[in-house]
Parts: sequence; structure tokens; C-alpha cells
Amino acid sequence: MADKQAKLNVGDQGFDFPVLEGSCGPDVVDIRKLYGQTGKFTFDPGYKSTASCESALTYIDGQEGVLLHRGYPIGQLAENSSFMETAYLLLNGELPSGQELDTFENTITHHTMLHEQLRQFYQGFRRDAHPMAIMCGVVGALSAFYHDSTDISDPEHRKISSHRLIAKMPTIAAMAYKYSLGQPFVYPDNSLSYTGNFLRMTFGVPAEEYEVIPEVEKAMDRIFILHADHEQNASTSTVRLAGSSGANPFACIAAGIACLWGPAHGGANEAALNMLREIGTPDKIPHYIERAKDKNDPFRLMGFGHRVYKNYDPRATVMQETVREVFEALKVDDPVFETAMRLEELALNDDYFREKKLFPNVDFYSGIILSAIGFPTTMFTALFALARTVGWVAQWNEMISDPAQVIGRPRQLYTGPTQRDYIPVDKR
Ligand code: ACO
Repeated sequence: MADKQAKLNVGDQGFDFPVLEGSCGPDVVDIRKLYGQTGKFTFDPGYKSTASCESALTYIDGQEGVLLHRGYPIGQLAENSSFMETAYLLLNGELPSGQELDTFENTITHHTMLHEQLRQFYQGFRRDAHPMAIMCGVVGALSAFYHDSTDISDPEHRKISSHRLIAKMPTIAAMAYKYSLGQPFVYPDNSLSYTGNFLRMTFGVPAEEYEVIPEVEKAMDRIFILHADHEQNASTSTVRLAGSSGANPFACIAAGIACLWGPAHGGANEAALNMLREIGTPDKIPHYIERAKDKNDPFRLMGFGHRVYKNYDPRATVMQETVREVFEALKVDDPVFETAMRLEELALNDDYFREKKLFPNVDFYSGIILSAIGFPTTMFTALFALARTVGWVAQWNEMISDPAQVIGRPRQLYTGPTQRDYIPVDKR
């Protein structure tokens, strides 16, 4: 029995529920027996007060602006780690030794190719298809190609499918981009890093040697680290819910990609850059700030606000630094960066944003970097999906490995008609 108890009074009856303690963060009231004991459900649309699972991967303290992966602060990982190392950490719980990292990188590298028949899949899409539409379709289709890794009760199958997903995602995303341009697909090159390989598959052409610019490779790798996992966000919860029914991992990750696409989630980086370009020059910012505050105007400051962070998103800090590094390396000077910094300054000094604790999130600056590297805005969310695949598969593995795992099945507050009798059409 848990040491702490929470009491709930329903009418004149009192019920005790155990209070569970995590290693950090708020305690949770374990209400799993609530319905059995009281005949009542809880009501929490949007899960604002609900812990949907137990997890040892990622911890966020939204009030303090803290993000830890397996205990390591995101700033330290962004500064010192690589995306492959962070992926290993998320999947396995500990940082790898040099030997373990080499083996992991080698394994991922040797899974980057797609089944040749999948190339034909792309032809089914219109040239102007959004890359996320292609990603949803192609990733879901992987389950039809890799039957030998879809037995989710077999840990070895889970491991291979996880490696395949992480390894093939850059190839799938780069091919989506190439398809939109009408350029030939570029096969992976095993001599390059995970990120260098992705850049080459995206921007290289068979007719020319592609040279990876180290500063761009580093910035891109860091962007991947910053997006690798983020606790029980909407797309991760979607992956977990899809996986809870026993669906295969490729189908589950396709579900996560679909959820990520929305402008309130992963689509916000595309929306944020479009917004900054629409604002154009710093003198127009006050007008847009007023619009964002107007309840009758649907306009919101994209890249601002977060369900969990009520402080500066620690990933946004790293993103802002990375903008400078990329601009310097590529010798670009996009006025949109100045507009973004001025918008941030004005919003943070505005009572509306201060009172509601709305700060820049990871998406506010990421689009500026990606645009400088050469990605069109439609690719932004696809890059997010590529990186978040690591978190999705790590969370999915954690869930499936838990012997207590059950299908996710929420209940509802029903407000429709009560039972009534069918009326034949001639009597209506
Ligand atoms: N601009 C203007 N007002 C905002 C903004 C914003 N960007 N974000 C929140 N608000 C206001 C809301 O209107 C609401 O005001 P009210 O209390 O007067 O009704 C209040 O702040 C709280 O906002 P909610 O939408 O209730 O907060 P929620 O936690 O549900 O939403 C969300 C979080 C969806 C991220 C929201 O802040 C938003 O839409 N931001 C813009 C989109 C964005 O940047 N999304 C990326 C999120 S990070 C990620 O997915 C990687």
C-alpha cells in the first residue's frame, strides 16, 4: 500500500486512493479503481491533469523550463552529444561506451536503404503532395515490407523494427523531398554520418559530388537532438494508444506522424516561419501582437506558448544560438531572424503574454535555421517526424515491454439523446 493517500468524497461517502511518487515531478493520484469503487469516471479532456502512463525516459518541469532525457539536461546533450548517442540513450537508458556507440551507429547505417519496391510507392503521390502525406503513407506501408520484424511480443523483432524505423526515416523524408522536385532519389552512403547522409540524400544530385558542410551537419544533428523526445505529447500519446492494441510498430509510427502534422503540434514550425515572413518587418509586429491578443481573431503567435512549459522552452534557447552559427557558416543574413527576435522581445514585455506565461517554444526559431539550410517550409514537420521517431520507438518499446500494459480505452461524459424508439421515415 502506498504511504500517501488521497481522499475523495462522493456524496457522504469517502474513498481513499493511493498517491504514487515518481523520481521527480508531481505525485499522481492512482484512480485506477475509481470506477469500480464509486461508479464514477474522471473528466479531463485534453489530459490537462492526467498522467497516462509510467515512464522513465523524459522529464519536463514546465514551470522551471527543464527538460531531461534519462536524467541528462537537454542543453548538455545538445552541446556535447550526437543524435545517434542521444537515440541510444533514449532507447537503452544509459549513455553508450565508445564500442557500444560504434556498434549502434553501424547497425543504423546498415538499415538506411529502403526496399526497392517502395520507390514505386512514391509515384502514386501527386508531385505537389505534402511530405507529411507521403511520410504517413510510406511509413505505414513499411509494415507490408518488413514482416520479419512485426512480432511485437518478440524483443528481437522490436529491436530490429526500431532500428529500421530510425534508419529509414531520413531516406523516406529525403525521397519525399526529391519527389516533389522531380529529381532522382539519392541512395544512402554508408561512409557518412546519420545526419550527413540525410543532407546528401536531400540536397545531393547524382551528377555531382555532394560535400557535407560540417557546421550545417552539426546544426542539423543538434536540431534532431532537440526534437528526439518530449514526454507524453500528442503524437507520442497517439503512438502509445495505437500500440496499446498490439498494432505493429510501423503502423503506430505512421499514426504518430499523422498527429504530429497538425499546426498545434509539429506543424507549428512551418506555421511560425510563414507567420514571420507574413509579418515581414519589425514595424508590423505590434499589429500582429494585437491580433494574437484579440479573442475574436483566430490568429495566434505561432511558435509561442506550450501546454507544459510556462517558462522559456530550453530547446528554444539552443535553437536561437544555432541560428547564429548557421547564418555565419552559410554567410546568410535573413531579416526574418531580426523580426523573430524583436517579436520575442515585444511579446515577452506584453502583459497578455506575461500573465498567460506564453514563451517561445522549440518551433519559433527552428524554421529560420531550416530555411537557411535550404529546406522548404513543407519539409519542416517531416524533419521533426524524422527526429521524433527516436522518442516514439523508445516510448513504444517501454510500453510494450511493460507486463502490466493494457489497451488504452478512455471513457466519456455522454451528452447525447437518451434511449428513444426508431421512427419509420414516412412518420418523421
Ligand atoms: N498566441 C496567442 N494566445 C495564445 C497562444 C499564442 N500562441 N497560445 C496560447 N494562447 C492563449 C489562449 O488563447 C488562452 O487564452 P485564454 O486563457 O484567455 O483562453 C491561453 O493562452 C491558454 O492557451 P491554451 O490554448 O488553452 O493552452 P494549451 O495548453 O491548450 O495550448 C498550444 C498550447 C496549443 C501550444 C498553444 O499555446 C498554441 O496554439 N500555440 C501556438 C502553436 C504552437 O506554437 N504549437 C507548438 C507547440 S510545441 C510543439 O508541439 C513542438
